[in-house]
Amino acid sequence: MNNSWFTLYINRYVESLMELVEFRDKKSDDHKVLSNFIDAIVKVRNRHHDVVPTMAQGVLEYRDSSKMDPFINQNIQYFLDRFYMNRISIRMLINQHTLIFDNNNNVGNPKHIGCIDPCCDVVDLVHDAFQSAQMLCDQYYFASPDLKLTQVNGKAAGQPIHIVYVPSHLFHMLFELFKNAMRATVEHQENKPSLDPVEVTVVLGKEDLSIKISDRGGGVPVRKIESLFSYTYSTAPKPVMEKNSTPLAGFGYGLPISRLYAKYFHGDLNLCSISGYGTDALIYLKVCSARPQSQ
Ligand SMILES: Nc1ncnc2c1ncn2[C@@H]1O[C@H](COP(=O)(O)OP(=O)(O)OP(=O)(O)O)[C@@H](O)[C@H]1O
Ligand SMILES: [Mg+2]
Repeated sequence: MNNSWFTLYINRYVESLMELVEFRDKKSDDHKVLSNFIDAIVKVRNRHHDVVPTMAQGVLEYRDSSKMDPFINQNIQYFLDRFYMNRISIRMLINQHTLIFDNNNNVGNPKHIGCIDPCCDVVDLVHDAFQSAQMLCDQYYFASPDLKLTQVNGKAAGQPIHIVYVPSHLFHMLFELFKNAMRATVEHQENKPSLDPVEVTVVLGKEDLSIKISDRGGGVPVRKIESLFSYTYSTAPKPVMEKNSTPLAGFGYGLPISRLYAKYFHGDLNLCSISGYGTDALIYLKVCSARPQSQ
């Protein structure tokens, strides 16, 4: 990343910090102060809306212009992991605050507590994320694999699977993993008359909610698995940045950022691959008991 990217972002962060520090000694029970604070954090959130693609573009430019060595790569990884984990955290807090306290523009779901869904329907989210990834895959390849879903509720056999979670976080992880699985499947099976489905297994256990996404996309050699989580690794062509178009792949951000989302609430995300066959992506989330649906 050249210096101007860093300077731009450091300046933006300092600017945002200064705007918020002003509120430190003000009375939090004054409605005017609360409303000004909400305006200030919404401004901060909007200002940083495009940080991920912009930073990704910066890393791509750096990768193309300089010689990457393992030391530089490790430093970029360390910096970006902390940077994006902080971003996830700050945005979660801003969203939570505005959804709960901004009575004027409240467009949140009435069944949610801020951005937390106390009864998050995991299978529904799997279908939504799969459909979104499928639309993108169809746009790029004019083909996409189907979904084969199995669900097992190990706590209450036969019951739907609900957890307490932030749906947008889980959607993000699923969407990224589905895009990867679909791209691998279509590219690996281009000569087959029909594509093997992407198999998803959702299991609710006592402590964990586990989601396994299995594809038959040819897999990855075990030597490379950890490098797939690097912000500088992608096997897709460099994406063209256009307004209103989302690339299917190419930034190398899908896996590392999804793993941060999983880790944010003490879960994890791993890949297990069989080179020459396919890949299993596993999401583990910590389970808190979901509220019964009637409440
Ligand atoms: N299921 C999979 N099967 C085979 N290779 C995979 C799979 N998932 C990821 N990969 C490899 O890991 C690389 C990094 O994946 P990642 O999702 O982080 O970035 P990307 O897909 O290249 O770009 P984007 O940031 O747009 O997601 C991919 O380019 C691909 O080579
Ligand atoms: Mg990806």
